[in-house]
Amino acid sequence: MATTSNTKRAKPIRAAITGVHGYLPPDLLTNAELARMVDTSDAWITERTGIKERHILKGKGLGSSHMAAEAVRGLLEKTGTLLKDIDLLICATTTPDLVFPSTANLICDMVGVRNIGSFDVQAACSGFLYALTIATQFIENGTARKVVVVGADKMSSIIDYTDRATCVLFGDGAGAVLLEPSANGHGIHDTLIRSDGAGMVHLHQKAGGSRMPPTAETVAKRLHYVHQEGAAVYKFAVARMAEISQELMLRNKLNPKTIDWLVPHQANRRIIEATAERMGLPMERVMMTIQKFGNTTAATIPLCLWDYESRLKEGDKLVLAAFGGGFTWAGAYVTWAYGG
Ligand code: ACO
Repeated sequence: MATTSNTKRAKPIRAAITGVHGYLPPDLLTNAELARMVDTSDAWITERTGIKERHILKGKGLGSSHMAAEAVRGLLEKTGTLLKDIDLLICATTTPDLVFPSTANLICDMVGVRNIGSFDVQAACSGFLYALTIATQFIENGTARKVVVVGADKMSSIIDYTDRATCVLFGDGAGAVLLEPSANGHGIHDTLIRSDGAGMVHLHQKAGGSRMPPTAETVAKRLHYVHQEGAAVYKFAVARMAEISQELMLRNKLNPKTIDWLVPHQANRRIIEATAERMGLPMERVMMTIQKFGNTTAATIPLCLWDYESRLKEGDKLVLAAFGGGFTWAGAYVTWAYGG
């Protein structure tokens, strides 16, 4: 049926981040301690990565869900969100508690949410932005009004603490955001997700999946740990993070002067600096937590937002960018919906 001229079109719904919270386990692993475990030094780690310390989850039987549940409980309390009002919970993780059920299912049980949709997203260090992209669709199409997106990783569970090239990089943590329909026009304007499976050879965990289930031999050969060819991953990370940020800038008519914050995945300070330089952004407008948290995989971006929350103003323009195993990479253009 043809629409009459006075028919009002409903305004499109925009998803907005309306709260953020994080959790870091209390135990710290410093560079000095790592230098006692493997052949490395505080000077090498600081110069090559920017990391000084990272948090490690200790305690028998505690997995990524423990940290995620802490972050989600804090988020719900802070935003005054009732359990009954949550429509969906998505967890981005590469270190699920179990092969199944999903960590998202476990988190819901731990925080006391029942009968909602919940599932995991696995895109390594890009996982949070993948999950945010999915959550945005649910808000925009009107099928959900309150979605929790949590990035949580217990990387210490898959790190070989005899391999100096990887063990210095990673930490444990979780960060969660609440997504709701925007009340003021600010929120998530654009997202991009990308992958290239040919990158698998450079960054993966060899055993533990269906291709090579765990056996005494896979354990003896230390195949359940992160295998990373650092230099190859580094090159791709710089190129793809800059590329996706520049694509977002072009699509949304942004320039270095109009961007208030770059929120990059925290894998290496040098990757972050190179990305900012290619975008033409000064480092004062780049969020950086790597020195104190290390690389917490799917948690780095929400932990950055949490750490800088008090400095964010309503309307601030943020470009979020991540790169990780897969290879995967992703970006988002967000205007911040509330004052710090
Ligand atoms: N202490 C001292 N020396 C070290 C250490 C260490 N901890 N680690 C490596 N080295 C040595 C190497 O053995 C090598 O020695 P050699 O020249 O005698 O062979 C030398 O340092 C240089 O090694 P590179 O690997 O070339 O060092 P690089 O400068 O590239 O830094 C790093 C290594 C930090 C891993 C860097 O390559 C990097 O950050 N890569 C990208 C990581 C990333 O972005 N990962 C993606 C996200 S993670 C995810 O998705 C799960």
